[in-house]
Amino acid sequence: MWLSSSSVGRKFIMAITGCVLVLFVTFHCLMNTIAICWPNAYNTICMFLGANWYALVASAGLAVFILIHIIDAFVLTVQNRRARGSERYLISKTPKGVEWSSKNMLVLGIVILAFLVVHLIQFWAKMQLQEIRGIEGAIPATAGTLFLQEAFGNNWTWIVYIVGFIALWFHMNHGFWSMFQSVGWDSTVWIPRLKCIAAWWTSIVVALFIAQCIVFTVKAHQGYYLTDENLRTQYKVMVSPAFDDFFGAGVSQQIAAMPFEQYEEAVRGQYGQMSNPQAQVYFAQDPKFPAMLEFLEHQVALLDYLHSKDEAQPVEEISIEAVQGGQDEATPAQHQH
Ligand code: HEM
Repeated sequence: MWLSSSSVGRKFIMAITGCVLVLFVTFHCLMNTIAICWPNAYNTICMFLGANWYALVASAGLAVFILIHIIDAFVLTVQNRRARGSERYLISKTPKGVEWSSKNMLVLGIVILAFLVVHLIQFWAKMQLQEIRGIEGAIPATAGTLFLQEAFGNNWTWIVYIVGFIALWFHMNHGFWSMFQSVGWDSTVWIPRLKCIAAWWTSIVVALFIAQCIVFTVKAHQGYYLTDENLRTQYKVMVSPAFDDFFGAGVSQQIAAMPFEQYEEAVRGQYGQMSNPQAQVYFAQDPKFPAMLEFLEHQVALLDYLHSKDEAQPVEEISIEAVQGGQDEATPAQHQH
């Protein structure tokens, strides 16, 4: 087939897949900007997308484009090196007019790929993949802002991201205009114009990513995504539907309507009762009991996590162990925040 067998065909594939990736990165950057301005709206979008069929189709399509782009890049590089033979070792200086990024597209791509692996482990694997696998942990898979907290709350994420963004700037800036050249739009009038558009487009996208990285890092270190009242209320609403499965229809509505503090007291109280060894003998007859207990354990762990950056009260006082020890050890006053 011409597309995959000829060098021109392969460059065409690079251009088409590259174009899709530029559009994805731009869209992704705009979506993240919502998390800066309206974190609750960002979570709502995460809930809307999640592992719904339309999000899965889009993710699968994107993965195919990324894979083709990477494989094609390696094949083209090998073909080019073979075609030039030993000549490339004789050239020690970059020819005039050939930019630095054009000579280093493969290396830049590999840096972006390394960034992407870290990034997908931090977000996609804990969000969409968890939903696909049906695994429920303490953090709801659609609570995007809690994963921002997790990722940017450590001291090294921002460094990895800034390195990734710099590589992205050079790679995307060059790829943007050269994809037009690859599909035959090689006009001397338009190439300078496209270079200018590429520089602006890429700079705006990367500047926005850097701004996001700074804002998320600062807010995560302040514990904003854990302590903000509106976000806490939203996390409570996110987990509420599962209560219907264990405690009867309509419970989720009650939970959604109650203040966060009241919800917290109810969950900790229920967990305290059910994890008490005497109560366990009684509840053991219920086949749903282990799943119920595990579910409540996750909710208590989530509550502990949300309090982990509270200034007024050290986290030790509200740890799971305190609750597991029974009501007598964890006084009602300790459950109020
Ligand atoms: C501050 C910067 C960024 C943040 C906060 C961020 C955030 C996220 C989040 C929350 C997800 C998970 C969505 C989900 O699975 O529901 C995600 C997925 C993803 N991100 Fe980023 N992202 C950033 C930068 C980037 C950059 C620069 C790239 C590409 C070079 C990128 C590529 C991807 C890809 C390929 C996915 C998987 C998309 C899918 O599942 O369909 N991200 N990102």
